[in-house]
Amino acid sequence: MFYRHYRAARTLALCAALTACGGDNAPSPEQQQSQPAAETANPDAWPELQAALRRDPEQEARIADLLSRMTIEEKVGQLIQAEIKYVTPEDVKKYHLGSILNGGGTYPDNDKFATPEDWLALADAYYEASMDTSDGGVAIPVIWGSDAVHGHNNVIGATLFPHNIGLGATRDPELIRRIGKATAREVAVTGVNWTFAPTVAVVRDDRWGRTFESYSEDPRIVRQYAEQMVEGIQGEKDSDTFLDGRHLVSATKHFIGDGGTERGIDRGDTKASEKELAEIHAAGYISALEAGVQTVMASFNSWNGKRLHGHEYLLTDILKERLGFDGFVVGDWNGHRFVEGCTVESCAQSINAGLDMFMAPSDWKPLYKNTLAQAKSGEISPERLDDAVTRILRVKLRAGLFERNQPLAGRTDIMGSAEHRAIAREAVRKSLVLLKNNGGLLPLDPEQKILVAGDAADNIAKQSGGWTISWQGTGNTDADFPGATSIYDGIKSAVSTAGGEAALSENGDFSGATFADGGEADVAVVVFGENPYAEWHGDLASLEYQLGTKTDLELLQKLQEQDIPVVSIFISGRPLWVNKEMNASDAFVAAWLPGSEGAGVADVILTDADGKKQYDFTGRLSFSWPRLVHQTVINHRDEDYKPLFTYGYGLHYGDSTQISNNLPDDGETYADGALEDAWLMVSRPRAPWQLMIAENGRDPVAVTGNRASSGDDNNITVASIDMESQEDARQIDWKGLRGGSVQLSAQKPQDLSRYIAEEAALTLDIRVDRLPEQPVSARIACADGCAGELPLQQPLQSLPTGDWSQLSIDLQCFAEEGADFSRISNGLSLTSEGPLSLAVANIKYVPGAAESAEIRCRG
Ligand code: BGC
Ligand code: BGC
Repeated sequence: MFYRHYRAARTLALCAALTACGGDNAPSPEQQQSQPAAETANPDAWPELQAALRRDPEQEARIADLLSRMTIEEKVGQLIQAEIKYVTPEDVKKYHLGSILNGGGTYPDNDKFATPEDWLALADAYYEASMDTSDGGVAIPVIWGSDAVHGHNNVIGATLFPHNIGLGATRDPELIRRIGKATAREVAVTGVNWTFAPTVAVVRDDRWGRTFESYSEDPRIVRQYAEQMVEGIQGEKDSDTFLDGRHLVSATKHFIGDGGTERGIDRGDTKASEKELAEIHAAGYISALEAGVQTVMASFNSWNGKRLHGHEYLLTDILKERLGFDGFVVGDWNGHRFVEGCTVESCAQSINAGLDMFMAPSDWKPLYKNTLAQAKSGEISPERLDDAVTRILRVKLRAGLFERNQPLAGRTDIMGSAEHRAIAREAVRKSLVLLKNNGGLLPLDPEQKILVAGDAADNIAKQSGGWTISWQGTGNTDADFPGATSIYDGIKSAVSTAGGEAALSENGDFSGATFADGGEADVAVVVFGENPYAEWHGDLASLEYQLGTKTDLELLQKLQEQDIPVVSIFISGRPLWVNKEMNASDAFVAAWLPGSEGAGVADVILTDADGKKQYDFTGRLSFSWPRLVHQTVINHRDEDYKPLFTYGYGLHYGDSTQISNNLPDDGETYADGALEDAWLMVSRPRAPWQLMIAENGRDPVAVTGNRASSGDDNNITVASIDMESQEDARQIDWKGLRGGSVQLSAQKPQDLSRYIAEEAALTLDIRVDRLPEQPVSARIACADGCAGELPLQQPLQSLPTGDWSQLSIDLQCFAEEGADFSRISNGLSLTSEGPLSLAVANIKYVPGAAESAEIRCRG
């Protein structure tokens, strides 16, 4: 038995003690990746674009003059973007910082309810600090960037438009332009001058947690929309509206290949030919550059093993030279740290590769110091430094920042205005895709008794998804959305106007008191779907909706069993495998993530009081919808293309298409599909698994939020910590006052026997911080007592303290000890009798991994 160590920098100490480390120079996956198959660069795969904008000679002369007066310290300051939680106006002045940002869920003074005036006051404070030359230096305005990705979504009261995947379904480029313009206007009210939008990813594998930020799997739509969105935000180039203060700076992101990573793993590797990169993933950049986009955000991902933040060929030779981009390239959140040889605090490699500005939220100060030293030593050449600063100044001049041209600043009447909400509601109507309408159930007559059920029916946070007030879109309640409407709100108001009755019941139960006549519902509208997520937290191992829990399916079936016709309104950031839910629905609408104007749904699904349709369904899928659960990478124009609903599909009223109520469930779905990894905890516990603390002799406590403990004496505590990214790991401390365990348990027994058949291993990342002196065990168990338990004390003792390692155990070992994998309720529990401190992350069952597991039980 040995423990495979997988981070090269940390390998040395351990390897001396182990037998099979693969030598001291064993490469980490990172290093292995960074040797792409020899491939000759092929710039001809890319179109040759002219510099997108005509340069203004006067501006260029002004830049040259500014540059000639700036010290090297001032120049390096321009290369740094810090986050408002970690940087004061005083810092901006002292270090001449080029930019600030607010991350998702960061607000002035850490106040979620900061008003637009508070935002503006803070923006003014940073701006004035940047222009204050009282201690010498040249006045260069700071630029503030924010993720206004579906409206100005960090600010309470802003209009929230449908997320991009919903906009993709509208097929209405002109609408996209109006949304861009409205968003820019709301952002301008708060004194922020730059939005990190649009995302122009062209998604391949829908398990990616950012699929909802993508317009389409089809590069043509992305190309068409990127242009419209950029022109909406920035105004039309060569016109008076361009960057006129009502129109702001846009960033297309994330350059390049973010939507193409293997298995849809966020920040992963995109293995693609240069032709594919240019023809598929570059689509949005081509049109955005032609429209004059001023900034491009580098991506976290790699291309054929090489990180974009250090990719000179793509950032410089292609983007800047071949495609003629003369604005600046901003990094993504500490994205430079992934470049070989770099850390969060030091990365000359990125600047040398063509990055112009680091996004360095909290560690900007050491990064500034190191970058300055590198500029002074010549590791970053004076030419490269001047080029980066020139680009940044060019954008600031074009955007009128030197003059603080802000015609809309403080115009709070524009935030969430009726005019903008009307655009959002129109977008909701147009984004709805009717997938099934058997017997022409829709549209509904509002003069009926309508039961509205499901946990998304009256839940504005859920219908808005990630990047909503908070980063992940979690932790919000209806009170956080003044002026917004839930889907139920819209139905209720239309139905009561028409003289019908709408009753809300989340769990679908109703009684004699629910409707005035004491009777049953005529029809049920059930609104359900994915809970909010953003970035890697949203990545999935399987496309199956409610894998292992299926509570919404039960709700649909319960209603159908009472002969109530069921309309499903499905909230999601991507197509998911929902055959069972579809079979249990008479009509089924893909509503995506509609945002603040939930009433747009009622506009389409209800007729007017005269029984005439108000609006037809016009939305069409911009993503193919899987027929089988393993169809994770299914995109139109694929060779063997057999989705459930093809790209472009979408029913209209009057269509007679009937969808089978016997779509394949289970068995067939796996027919030729490989078994996916089962994720128990990847970034967060994954349904059906819930993280629990169970002390001997006490009731288990669920771990919700970032910290939990077993009781007053904190005998066992669990806290979220960072391994590779925010809060992707859990620190577990046992004080040893009493024994007890931390478990991943499911409410319903799970049939995981396929994982035994497919020779899976339990794998996890683990870091022991305090070694155990008393017994420790790993256990997999059923609710009724069947259990396989393995001793873990000795294996843990052989690990180095304070370092991450990977541990894997053949599941067969648990089976042999008594775990029955056809009905598992405890996917893993770690029990300690005495004091112990460790951290865990990435807990999975990985098919096929038994053979190479450290702890094996097969012959
Ligand atoms: C920020 C986000 C950012 C993320 C990146 C979060 O804390 O709020 O804006 O994208 O970190 O790791
Ligand atoms: C995301 C970007 C975002 C940035 C700032 C990153 O983690 O990848 O899309 O613009 O954070 O919030």
